[in-house]
Amino acid sequence: MPAAPDVGTAAAGIMSRLVAEKPDAVLGLATGASVKRVYAELHALDFSRVTAFALDEYVGLSRSHPASFRAFMDEHFLSRVNVDRKRVHLPPTEGEDLAGLCEQFERDIRAAGGIDLQLLGIGRDGHLGFNEPTSSLASRTRIKTLTGRTREANRSAFGGDEVPRHVVTMGIGTILEARHCLLVAGGSAKADAVARMVEGPLSAMVPASALQLHPRVTVIVDEAAAAGLSMRDYYREVQRNKPDWQR
Ligand code: GLP
Repeated sequence: MPAAPDVGTAAAGIMSRLVAEKPDAVLGLATGASVKRVYAELHALDFSRVTAFALDEYVGLSRSHPASFRAFMDEHFLSRVNVDRKRVHLPPTEGEDLAGLCEQFERDIRAAGGIDLQLLGIGRDGHLGFNEPTSSLASRTRIKTLTGRTREANRSAFGGDEVPRHVVTMGIGTILEARHCLLVAGGSAKADAVARMVEGPLSAMVPASALQLHPRVTVIVDEAAAAGLSMRDYYREVQRNKPDWQR
């Protein structure tokens, strides 16, 4: 729960340290207002040998549409750092055999050596990527149908155009294989989802709660998003008393 540096700066610091230590790191990238704050804080780092996999994308939306995650990635990440676009993999969203292409996407992740750091936001209903409530906690990259709530939450980006019903997203099982998951969230609208993810029961109704099973997750939230955590005083105490080797 950083007061300062803020959520974006703290998360960008973790990503930057990884790329400095491992210039050919494999990153999992996410979209959304929360992670935008992370990309904005990435400065003067060499990303030329980094490989990246995007978490999700709408099906049937032109990649030049301003609401596409491709366009988001271009604006907030690819245009800011010197990443080699040939090393950036986007989930498949067109083609006759989408299911086969999703399997290929999974093989591509494995061929790259797996994801070192997966950046994540969280939906108000606890979704991770576009894994909506009731997603299998063992799911792989596949097509999903969005809930009305998520389509409504994302509507403002579409400027009056219809929000697609279908998406392709890494599965929860895919995300859990990343070696380190870094989740950022800000604002009171996320407080309930954050509390249920961290402290609630493990449940497919809150896909992000699957992160409780992961050996290395860093959750960075602001005070408003942390407001529902019943043990937040303890988390502060842990933070204050971390031994040097653990920082
Ligand atoms: C979308 C994305 C999620 C993201 C969520 C929250 O639904 N598919 O990966 O976590 O939005 O985004 P924001 O940070 O804008 O609230």
